[in-house]
Amino acid sequence: MRVRRIANRPSVCDSQDLGSKPFALETISTGSFEFDRSLGGGVTLGSVTLIGGEPGIGKSTLLTQFLATAANGGHRCLYVSAEESQPQVAGRISRLGGADSSIGILIANELEDIEEQLLSYKPEIVVVDSIQTVSDSSLASSAGSVNQVRECATRLSDIAKFEGIALLLVGHVTKDGTLAGPRVLEHLVDTVAYFEGDRDSTLRILRVIKHRFGPVGDLGMFEMGDAGLADLENATGVHLVDRVEGQPGSTVFPALDGRRVMLTEVQALVVPTASEQPRRVVTGLEMSRVLLLLAVLEKKIGVRLHNKDVFLSVTGGVRLSDPAADLAVIAAVVSSLVDRPVAPSIVFIGEVGLGGEIRTASNTRQRISEAYRLGFTMGIVGVNFVEDVAGVSTVRVKDVRAALAEASLHFR
Ligand code: TYD
Ligand code: MG
Repeated sequence: MRVRRIANRPSVCDSQDLGSKPFALETISTGSFEFDRSLGGGVTLGSVTLIGGEPGIGKSTLLTQFLATAANGGHRCLYVSAEESQPQVAGRISRLGGADSSIGILIANELEDIEEQLLSYKPEIVVVDSIQTVSDSSLASSAGSVNQVRECATRLSDIAKFEGIALLLVGHVTKDGTLAGPRVLEHLVDTVAYFEGDRDSTLRILRVIKHRFGPVGDLGMFEMGDAGLADLENATGVHLVDRVEGQPGSTVFPALDGRRVMLTEVQALVVPTASEQPRRVVTGLEMSRVLLLLAVLEKKIGVRLHNKDVFLSVTGGVRLSDPAADLAVIAAVVSSLVDRPVAPSIVFIGEVGLGGEIRTASNTRQRISEAYRLGFTMGIVGVNFVEDVAGVSTVRVKDVRAALAEASLHFR
């Protein structure tokens, strides 16, 4: 039997007439604080969410845990796997908290089979793992091609919208481009999130780049362990865990990643060189920005760097493009140059202008409050930040010279 594509003929409805809606927008908590916060509260019934990411990053794990939680909460769930066998899927469900819950498992590649089961099993929440391995055999192209991926996602979305199902599609991102990437689906779905992380680390980040039902830019942070993914505790300070306090050349900057504050460490190493062309080696910062800051130090403060190599890096593989990091960079350089550590309780927040003046950064309050939560008690900030933050001494500085003096970085 071929399942007819559900094509609604357009018709006008009155905004007052809520009864004409096939379902109300209901949000289901994922059971994970981090997953919920990245989605603005949870997964919405009748919506389609794409979870993209490289193979092995943890997409199946994340979604299995969600289904286990939802099923334990009484929701009817279906896991469609077009990649793994029934024992593999069932084994993962039972290991990840779903041992006592009942979750439908469908092993199928053929779009029609999946459509049929969606209509007959009547689930509230469906995971399709992955959309690139589902295909419509009436199309000439092979599974994973742009045509197939688009057609399959469109048809499954139609059913999800009409039946009020929360549909979660897994999309592999492959470096070699053998599969059509999730990007071809971004405009088709309501929510797009990418699951990222380093193979060598247990940290996983869910980054929401499109969201029809809430704000974008929020992140969820997790740790992959033996029992699957756990919400990362103390996510704000994750990049500071290996920081050695009291080292010259190290400063802390509360960066914004999406809407979330992440404390980052800037490290500088300034060493004498006999070379006519001193080296500037930079990781995690924009070279042009660093050169500008070094020029400001030379010209406005009289710091002599022409006979020094300067190495700068941001720890934890973070890339900072926010000019609010300028002050932390400058303080790290001077701290290394004079070989004096900055007090470990200080965070630096401020953009540096060409005249050496400090501009107050956006979201300074949010950055300071989050730093305070992690034990920082002094914020060196721009003069235009007029608020007070309980527990933190905010030192307002108008220029680089004043900032360095407040951090006890004196030099001759
Ligand atoms: P998986 O969710 O299968 O990745 P994806 O669906 O994105 O391809 O997760 C794969 C990796 O995660 C695998 O290398 C094993 C690891 N893992 C754990 O470390 N702990 C666990 O509890 C689970 C289920 C997986
Ligand atoms: Mg998988």
